[in-house]
Amino acid sequence: MGKIILTGDRPTGRLHLGHYVGSLRRRVELQESGLFDRIYIMIADAQALTDNADNPEKVRQNIIEVALDYLSAGLDPSKSVLFIQSQIPELCELAFYYMNLVTVQRLQRNPTVKAEIGLRGFSENASEGDTQQRQGIPTGFFTYPISQAADITAFKATTVPAGEDQEPMIEQTREIVHKFNSTYDEVLVEPEILLPDNAACMRLPGTDGKAKMSKSLGNCIYLSDTADEVKKKVMGMYTDPDHLRVEDPGKVEGNTVFTYLDAFCRPEHFEKYLPDYPSLDELKAHYQRGGLGDVKVKKFLIKVLNETLDPIRERRKYYEGRIREVYTILEQGSMEARKTASQTLSEVRQAMRINYFEDRDLIEEQARNFAARQ
Ligand code: TRP
Repeated sequence: MGKIILTGDRPTGRLHLGHYVGSLRRRVELQESGLFDRIYIMIADAQALTDNADNPEKVRQNIIEVALDYLSAGLDPSKSVLFIQSQIPELCELAFYYMNLVTVQRLQRNPTVKAEIGLRGFSENASEGDTQQRQGIPTGFFTYPISQAADITAFKATTVPAGEDQEPMIEQTREIVHKFNSTYDEVLVEPEILLPDNAACMRLPGTDGKAKMSKSLGNCIYLSDTADEVKKKVMGMYTDPDHLRVEDPGKVEGNTVFTYLDAFCRPEHFEKYLPDYPSLDELKAHYQRGGLGDVKVKKFLIKVLNETLDPIRERRKYYEGRIREVYTILEQGSMEARKTASQTLSEVRQAMRINYFEDRDLIEEQARNFAARQ
């Protein structure tokens, strides 16, 4: 059987460089590799509502932002199916059946859910002041790992390109698949996660050196940032706080500028922008010895980032002038995704033997049973 990709993002904001190196760039490579029979990229609006119930309009407004980021990054609607989760009602039905295959206790052990219970959940021995701050967890949030299993299995995805934070979700999906297939019939496919291949891409730090780029920390470089915004953000970037004078030896570990270079720069960037150095290793060695200033490295990074972002900006401009067309792309993708999901759902119903009206044997058998009793 062929290989199929499903992956996606919650539409809660514009996508940034962390998304790009952690997933988007990879998706485009996979799209161009020809190794996959089908690639589904989902805008997970319904999942976004599980923790944005207070701000549904934010989710609604950001669907187009994420779609523009996808198209600008090079996802091609003639090669990949781009769709919106909420437009596939079959996903809800699958999730509803899967709910019987997962215990409350198992969900509580899912690390993402567990962390949220720690923050917002009520605990039996919490003091009263404590419980007043905690609004509790929406049931939709609590069960979203099950809904994510529906997303993945509806398309019989073999491969889920995602960050390591998604590992527990894929593991939980595999358990659901196993349970379903052994209870009913071998209908569902166990997916595998495909992680980013380099450490810098696993979790790109924010421009302030904090562990993660995050909108709420204000430390992001967005795919839609202008060349000037990128320049400003890089010039203000966290480096080695002990590297005070150019002559001082500097550290490259935990030095955000070098982490970004690990994630973005290629040998040809040196030839083009910094011909004095044959490679990133040499640049790092000079920095560590002392005698290389932050500004020089930052200027190089600005050029590398803008070279990466320029074609993305160009495509974004193209699609920003064709917003209606972008919605049509999503509508057509959703129609196509729905076809696949409804095929899987019908196999699921058949395996569960709840397709009563197609099940002539059941009807005839019951008719005979009742006739015999008359
Ligand atoms: N949980 C993912 C995120 O927060 C989004 C998502 C929803 C997803 N369904 C998925 C990712 C299925 C991979 C596969 O970004």
